[in-house]
Parts: sequence; structure tokens; C-alpha cells
Amino acid sequence: MAHRTDNDTVRLIVGNDVAVKAARAGQTNPWPDGAVLGKVVWKAASLDAWSEAKVPSDLVHAEFMFKDSKKYAQTYGWGWGRWLGMEQKPFDKGPEVCTSCHTPVQDRDWVFTHPAVFPKD
Ligand code: HEC
Repeated sequence: MAHRTDNDTVRLIVGNDVAVKAARAGQTNPWPDGAVLGKVVWKAASLDAWSEAKVPSDLVHAEFMFKDSKKYAQTYGWGWGRWLGMEQKPFDKGPEVCTSCHTPVQDRDWVFTHPAVFPKD
């Protein structure tokens, strides 16, 4: 989960089974082929009964990174996709918009998020 204070949005960051297994095994640099990371972004609102609690309101966009080091070799091993708003309209700009902003984490296989820590099984 993430809360961006500059544009007041809350974000849910999720992974498919391949990604979750890799995260739990600490194998995230590089992430394995087949891993999919997703992020869903909402405008933040305050909870009625407790205004300091920030919760999701309007959906802004959903976006995904698909790891396939061969297929997406030209975009650093990841396919990049974004869909906007409740209509999930495809984003009309190319992956360079994504990769240019993810550059600060190029040595972390282009991923910002540190997987949340859970108790061991
Ligand atoms: C303005 C900078 C910026 C742009 C542009 C951007 N991202 Fe990100 N992205 C971030 C940041 C910062 C995070 C981690 C924290 C967060 O969620 O706000 C992130 C996280 C993600 C995540 C969760 C995995 C991770 O790296 O933490 C996915 C998936 C993602 N972005 C996909 C995309 C896609 C697809 C595009 C292009 C359509 C894109 N991003 C464009 C800044 C950006």
C-alpha cells in the first residue's frame, strides 16, 4: 500500500502468484519471468467517522508491469500498461513515460515497492 502526499492518492500494489512467491523468497532483483505487478490508484478521502484515516474514493487508474525478459527486452524486461478511470480507457502514451519515471529504481529491476513483511508460515 502507498499514500502519495503530493497528489493525495492512495495506492494498492498487488502481484500474481509468481510475483508473491518471488517476493516471499526474496527473489526480486531480478523478478522472475511471469511475474505481474499491478497498482490501483484512487483519490484519497477521509473516513466519515475518523477524518485522519485516508481511504479510497474516485478511481484514477490501474496499471501493470508484466515481466518477460525476452518479449519485453527493449523496455528493460517489463511490459507496461495503464487503464484510466472507471471506464478503464487505455492510456495512449508509450512505455517510455513509465520507464522514465521508474529510472531511480533501475538497479532494483525497475520496481519501487518493497514487499510488505508478513510472519513466516
Ligand atoms: C510520475 C512518476 C511515475 C510514472 C510516470 C509512472 N510510475 Fe509507476 N510508480 C511510480 C512510483 C513512485 C511507484 C511506487 C509508489 C507508488 O505507488 O506511488 C510506482 C509503482 C508502480 C507499480 C507497482 C510496482 C512498483 O514499481 O512499485 C506499477 C505496476 C507501476 N508503477 C506501473 C507503471 C506504468 C505501467 C506506468 C506507465 C503507464 C507507470 N508506472 C508510470 C512512479 C511513476
